[in-house]
Amino acid sequence: MKFLKQFMLLVLVLLNLQLFGQQPVKPIEITTDKLSMIFTVDKNQRIIYHYFGNKIEGSRQAFLSRGFIGQPDSNDDLAPLAFPAYGGRYYLNPALKVTHADGLLTTDLMYEKHEEVKLDNNKTQTVLYLKDRLYPIYVQLTFTAFAKENVITQSAKVTNKEKGNIKVENIASSYLPLHAESYYLTHFNGTWAHEMQQEEEKLNHGIKVIETKKGVRATQAQNPSFLISLNHPSQEDFGDVYGGSLAWSGNFNLSFELDESYRLNVVTGMNPFASTFTLSTNDFIETPEMIWTFSDKGRGQVSRNFHDWGRKYGMAHGDKVRPTVLNSWEGAYFTFDEKTIKDMIDDAAKFGIEMFVLDDGWFGNTYPRNSDGAGLGDWQTNVKKLPNGLNNLAQYAVDKGLQFGIWIEPEMVNPDSELAKKHPEWVVQSGQREKLTMRNQWVLDLSNPKVQDFVYDIFDQTVKQSPHISYIKWDANRHIDNVGSTYLPKDKQSHFWYEYVRGLYRVYERIRAKYPDIDIQLCSSGGGRMDYGAMKFHNEVWPSDNTNGLDRVFIQYGANLFFPAMATASHVSTSPNHQTQMMMPLKFRFDVAMSGRLGMELQPKDIVGDEYDFAQHAIQDYKKIRPTVQLGDLYRMVSPYNGTNWAAHMYVAKDKKEAVLFAYSLAYHGRTTYFEEKLKGLNPDKNYKVVEINKKPGSRTFDNDGEVFTGEYLMKVGLRLNIGDAFASSVLMISEQ
Ligand code: DGJ
Repeated sequence: MKFLKQFMLLVLVLLNLQLFGQQPVKPIEITTDKLSMIFTVDKNQRIIYHYFGNKIEGSRQAFLSRGFIGQPDSNDDLAPLAFPAYGGRYYLNPALKVTHADGLLTTDLMYEKHEEVKLDNNKTQTVLYLKDRLYPIYVQLTFTAFAKENVITQSAKVTNKEKGNIKVENIASSYLPLHAESYYLTHFNGTWAHEMQQEEEKLNHGIKVIETKKGVRATQAQNPSFLISLNHPSQEDFGDVYGGSLAWSGNFNLSFELDESYRLNVVTGMNPFASTFTLSTNDFIETPEMIWTFSDKGRGQVSRNFHDWGRKYGMAHGDKVRPTVLNSWEGAYFTFDEKTIKDMIDDAAKFGIEMFVLDDGWFGNTYPRNSDGAGLGDWQTNVKKLPNGLNNLAQYAVDKGLQFGIWIEPEMVNPDSELAKKHPEWVVQSGQREKLTMRNQWVLDLSNPKVQDFVYDIFDQTVKQSPHISYIKWDANRHIDNVGSTYLPKDKQSHFWYEYVRGLYRVYERIRAKYPDIDIQLCSSGGGRMDYGAMKFHNEVWPSDNTNGLDRVFIQYGANLFFPAMATASHVSTSPNHQTQMMMPLKFRFDVAMSGRLGMELQPKDIVGDEYDFAQHAIQDYKKIRPTVQLGDLYRMVSPYNGTNWAAHMYVAKDKKEAVLFAYSLAYHGRTTYFEEKLKGLNPDKNYKVVEINKKPGSRTFDNDGEVFTGEYLMKVGLRLNIGDAFASSVLMISEQ
C-alpha cells in the first residue's frame, strides 16, 4: 500500500514535469568544510534561497525525499528567492530593479542553468544563470566557496540583450533571507580619529540601513562589515552568527528588512542612490563581491574565518610577517629637511625598527608642500628640503639596515598646484557649481582613463625614484561632494560612483601587475577605506589617525573583528597624544600597539632615559611574538564594550605551541578588584610556560611569572593579573614546554 502511494506520487510529479516541460533540478549546493548554502528550483522555475548555515550532509537526498522539486512550503509565493527582483509578488527592498527598454518596471527571473567549477583544491565556483521570463535580461549569480576558511563570496552580473537601453536602478551583490525569533545587528560607526566604533542593536520591523554616499573615504562613518546574531546579542563563543563584508571602496548600502512573516531580508551591495545604470544592448554590469561566513560558535569563530580568508585571499602577502615601522608624520609633520629625516632613520635603526616611512611634505616646488594648503598633485621631490632626492634617503636607510617607504595621495589635488592649473577638467565637479574644497583639496575624476593613467604614473614614477623604495603609504583625505564628471557623457553622470571605484581598481590592478612585491599601506585619513575591495591590493590598513592607546583598544577591536592583526598598523605615539591630548604610560601604548603590526609615529629623540630602554626592549619583544600575533588565531576574552573597563584577547599560533595574551585596564578599578580570566585556544593536554614580557623595570603584573601550567588549567582556572590601575596592562608570552 505504502509502495503504491509512493509510486502514484512519483507518477504525479513526473506528469507535472511533463505538462510544464521541465526537467527536475536537483538542489544546488554550495559547500565549504563546515557550511552549506542551498538553492532549489521550484515548479515555476524560480530559484529559491533555501538555506545558509552549518553544513547539511546529504542534503540533496533530504530535499528530494520530500517528493518535490524545490520549496516544500505550501505558500510558494512567500518563498525567498535567490535574487529577488522587483515584480511579481515581491514587495520588499529588491536585489534587482530594472526598467526595461519599453518602460516596463517589473522583472521575473527564472532558472536557466547552473555550472560548478572546481577552481583548485580549496575553491569551488558555482554560477547560477537566470533570465527574465519574458525579456532578454540575463542575470548571473557567482558564488565562490572557500572550503577551509568557511567563506562564501557572492556577486551578480546583469546583461542586457533587449533591443534598446534598459535602466538598472538597483543591483545588489547578494540577498540573504534568515528566519529566527529575533535578530541582533552589530555594525560600526565613526568619524575621523574615531573609526570602527561598535554598536549592536535588536532589529525591529521596518528597514535598518547602513550606507554611505560619500564615494571616497567611504568607511569613515559606517563600515560595510557587520554581524547578525540570531535570537540573542552576539556572544564570543556560542550562538549562530553570520558575518558579512562588502568588498567595495565606494558607496554601499546594506539593508536589513524585518518583514511581516518575521523573516529578515538582508540586501547588500553598492548604494543605488543617484546611481542608475543605463545599459545598451549587450552591455552588462557586475557587482562587487559580498563576503559571507557563519558560525554556530559565536563571533569569535566568525572573526577567525575572516582572518584566515583575509590572509590568504583578501590582502597582499598575507603569509609574510610585517616589518616594524617608524613613520615620520607625527614626529616631523611638514617641517623637515634631509638631516631631520636622516636623524630619524639613525634613531629608528638604534631602536631596532625595520622600515622607515617618509610621510607627507616631501614634494612640490612651484607650490611647495609645506602645509596641507598647496602642492598636492605635483609629485616632484622638493629640492629645498631634500636636495639629494629620494634615492639618497632610501639608500641611507638601507645602509642603516632599514627598508624605505614613502607617502603619496595620488587621487587628490590642491587648487594651489601646477596640476590643478594644467588640468582643471580632471577635478570632480558639478557643472558650473563651486568646486568645494575639503582639507584644501579636490578629488581627481578617476572615471576618466587619463586620470587613471596619471594616478598609475605617479605611483610608478615615485617607486622608480629609487630601487630601495619597498613600501608605499597611499592616502586619500577627503570624500566627494558636488559630484559630477567632465568625462562621463550627460546620460551617464549617474555611473560616476561606480566608475570612480572601477577606475581606482583598474589602477590598483596595473600597479600590482608591475609591482607584486611592494608593500602598500591603505590609508584614507586613517580608516576611511577599510574594506576588502581595496584591501586585496594592500598589505595593511592604517585604521586611524588616533594613536591614543585607550582609543586604539576600541578601534582595533572593531577592525580586528574582520581584518587580521597583521593588517592593522598600530603605532606608538607621543604623550600627551596629539589627537586626544590624553596622557598614557609608554607601556600601555606599546602593549596596545604590539597587538597589531607594531610601529612608531613620533620623534624618536623625544624618548629618553628609562623610556628609551623600555621602547628598545619592547621592539625586541615584539619580534618574538610577531609570528603569533600576525599569523595566529585571535581569541577575544574581554570586550572593551562590556562595561568592566577591562579588555583582553589572545593570539594562538596555528600549531598551539605559542600564544600571547594582551590585557588592558581602561580605567581605575577599586583596590580590591582584580583581573582574572580563563585563557582560550590552547591545547589542554600540553604544558605551557607563562612569561610576562614588556615589564616596567622593577614591576610586574603577573605573580606567577615564569611558571608552567597545563593548557587545561589555563583554560579552566585562568590567570590573575594585577592591572587594577588606570591604563595598567600586561603582555604574557605562553610557550609550550
Ligand atoms: C592622513 C593620514 O591618516 C596621516 O597618517 C598622514 O599621512 C596625513 N594624512 C598626511 O597628510
